[in-house]
Amino acid sequence: MSGGKRYILKGSVSLALVILILLMITLLVSEENPLRTSLFEVKRQFSASSSSVCNFAKGKWVQDRKRPLYSGLECKQWLSTMWSCRIMGRPDFSFEAYRWQPEGCNMPQFDRFTFLKRMQNKTIAFIGDSLGRQQFQSLMCMATGGEDSPEVQNVGWEYGLVKPKGALRPDGWAYRFPTTNTTILYYWSASLSDLVPMNNTDPPRVTAMHLDRPPAFMRNYLHRFDVLVLNTGHHWNRGKIEGNHWVMHVNGTRVEGEYLKDIRDAKDFTIHSVVTWLDAQLPLHPRLKAFFRTISPRHFRNGDWNTGGNCNNTVPLSRGSEITGDDGSVDTTVESAVNGTGIKILDITALSELRDEAHISGSKLKPRKPKKASNETATPVVNDCLHWCLPGIPDTWNELFIAQI
Ligand SMILES: *[C@@H]1O[C@H](CO)[C@@H](O)[C@H](O)[C@H]1NC(C)=O
Ligand SMILES: *[C@@H]1O[C@H](CO)[C@@H](O)[C@H](O)[C@H]1NC(C)=O
Ligand SMILES: *[C@@H]1O[C@H](CO)[C@@H](O)[C@H](O)[C@H]1NC(C)=O
Ligand SMILES: *[C@@H]1O[C@H](CO)[C@@H](O)[C@H](O)[C@H]1NC(C)=O
Ligand SMILES: *[C@@H]1O[C@H](CO)[C@@H](O)[C@H](O)[C@H]1NC(C)=O
Ligand SMILES: *[C@@H]1O[C@H](CO)[C@@H](O)[C@H](O)[C@H]1NC(C)=O
Ligand SMILES: *[C@@H]1O[C@H](CO)[C@@H](O)[C@H](O)[C@H]1NC(C)=O
Repeated sequence: MSGGKRYILKGSVSLALVILILLMITLLVSEENPLRTSLFEVKRQFSASSSSVCNFAKGKWVQDRKRPLYSGLECKQWLSTMWSCRIMGRPDFSFEAYRWQPEGCNMPQFDRFTFLKRMQNKTIAFIGDSLGRQQFQSLMCMATGGEDSPEVQNVGWEYGLVKPKGALRPDGWAYRFPTTNTTILYYWSASLSDLVPMNNTDPPRVTAMHLDRPPAFMRNYLHRFDVLVLNTGHHWNRGKIEGNHWVMHVNGTRVEGEYLKDIRDAKDFTIHSVVTWLDAQLPLHPRLKAFFRTISPRHFRNGDWNTGGNCNNTVPLSRGSEITGDDGSVDTTVESAVNGTGIKILDITALSELRDEAHISGSKLKPRKPKKASNETATPVVNDCLHWCLPGIPDTWNELFIAQI
């Protein structure tokens, strides 16, 4: 080898070294560096344990260019069309670009592979109303990354979740990820009470609503759940209960007179009943981690669906971005029911309250198929300030509950 060649070789070796060092410096200061994040988190955890107990409900919304966690256009397999605001023609999507940063809590970035691996051989169950169904659909999209996932198995039949003859849909859905043997399911129970037909007619004209008895589905399948997330709330009004022909019962007999006449008392009574029952079940089901999700806030400008008042704000965080202070939950019913029990509160009320721009309201209602008799010209606009766009706020509820499993 000649001297000149050796010189060139030496030169490229030192150049490579310089590049390597530069690369390491870049990695060290970059946001993505896991080392930096973990050091940061250790410090956080330390300060959290030395000052106050971590409370996931306190913190702030921060912009995050890695959001959303999946595409609202692509996650067709799991998302209801009406909740996919991109399909429903909503024009603005700045609301998708935020994540919740709890104050002083260890909040790892959601990673679907890590999540599924942690949930190996486990079953996650959501039981509740349509907001619980939103959280279920959100978790399905998060766990698949919104990608088409033909390998995911429909195992509804294992839980009796099959569409009854003549019904619009089954009472729930159950899906299994074969690679990790993880099952995610949802069962519709708007009131978390047991519903028993009182008449032999089909459909039943009157249904007994046993406030002191959890839904049969929950009693029957509890032993198969590893994680359970409950919710209720928006069906507790006279109109809905009477419209469904639900008749309240306690101790197996019809509730009469002044007792539980106020519907809020009936709701409180039921939430306390189901929590007491579940807490007594925990020693028999040592694997089970149970959560009660607090109420999801609505943002109708004045009142409710009927009195109208659309939530037409599109500017994120115009109500503020932070929840601070030492106060408890806005949802005092759930907070007091789980107090002193083994059931954890999934407190999402205050942080969701800040996000009035993230409801499905304002989406253009696209008719599924043209109706024969209709000669409507304008596309009607959805006026729903209760349900959320997906991807959206329920993704955050899932991140918070996964961090607490
Ligand atoms: C899947 O997990 C369940 C427990 O949740 C277990 O009983 C079953 O054997 C597992 N199946 C496979 C194929 O690993
Ligand atoms: C999952 O279940 C299978 C079958 O029962 C078992 O072989 C495996 O070790 C389990 N894995 C975990 C992580 O529990
Ligand atoms: C339904 O059954 C209840 C109790 O069994 C009875 O009192 C009521 O009259 C029945 N209602 C109708 C509409 O058949
Ligand atoms: C239900 O039964 C319990 C225990 O027997 C009793 O304390 C309670 O007052 C009863 N409630 C109603 C509404 O009948
Ligand atoms: C939202 O609705 C209110 C009341 O209907 C109306 O006054 C306001 O102009 C609307 N704002 C936007 C941004 O559309
Ligand atoms: C929880 O229960 C304890 C003991 O009964 C009580 O002191 C505390 O005020 C309760 N907290 C809430 C938030 O209800
Ligand atoms: C269609 O328009 C005609 C004329 O304006 C009206 O009489 C009719 O009731 C409309 N039909 C429907 C289904 O709205």
